[in-house]
Amino acid sequence: MTRTWLVAGNWKMHGSLAANEALLGFLLGQISGSTAGECAVCVPFPYLEQVSRRLKGSAIAWGAQNVSEHAQGAYTGEVSAAMLRDFDCRYVIVGHSERRQLYGEGDAQAAAKFAAAQGAGLTPILCVGETLQEREAGRTEEVVARQLGAVLERGDFGNAVLAYEPVWAIGTGLTAAPEQAQQVHAFLRKRVSNATRILYGGSVKAQNAPAIFAMPDVDGGLIGGASLVAKEFVGIVKAAERIER
Ligand code: PGA
Repeated sequence: MTRTWLVAGNWKMHGSLAANEALLGFLLGQISGSTAGECAVCVPFPYLEQVSRRLKGSAIAWGAQNVSEHAQGAYTGEVSAAMLRDFDCRYVIVGHSERRQLYGEGDAQAAAKFAAAQGAGLTPILCVGETLQEREAGRTEEVVARQLGAVLERGDFGNAVLAYEPVWAIGTGLTAAPEQAQQVHAFLRKRVSNATRILYGGSVKAQNAPAIFAMPDVDGGLIGGASLVAKEFVGIVKAAERIER
């Protein structure tokens, strides 16, 4: 089974019109299309107009970092999947650990967001991952199975993307060893189709990407901090281009 790779940047709450312009300009000069894979940036809502204008017709796709589970209505501050479609988003991150930990999003809400995104024709990137405490208690598989299970209970995973992001490795500089990532990816693989892309996320840099991407069930990465550093992000995309399947 040949799967395409995906490297998706998660800018989180960073950026400005001027900084984005410089970053996108650099990426456009360095990233040309590859039939074997794809690269994307997931940006804060206000910058969707800017990225859609700059990246239209390029090899770089774009998306958002969150979406409402509701289609429309009196939900002050929320953004619907149809609105993201209006800006030609392809991807939307769902259930990121920062949403779960800081904003109290639970499995059921993440699953509802996933369904709303899919219903609008977006490709959700569902994040799953254990905390350090859960890993140390030997509960990693139970936790990621529960998080993924909430989505599978509602329906088919479809052509969505799964991202394994151990919470203890996000923004901490700690990375799961490639074999540790592979173990969880292989576990998740049994629960989704063979064609599903499973990304690794958590302190991926240009330097550690090749070893992580060499694992058989790792199909690219979800990149936080390093996606804001133009050369780092390009280096990670180049590492993905060398993935052999
Ligand atoms: P990081 O973030 O690469 O900065 O660890 C990854 C993520 O949160 O998606």
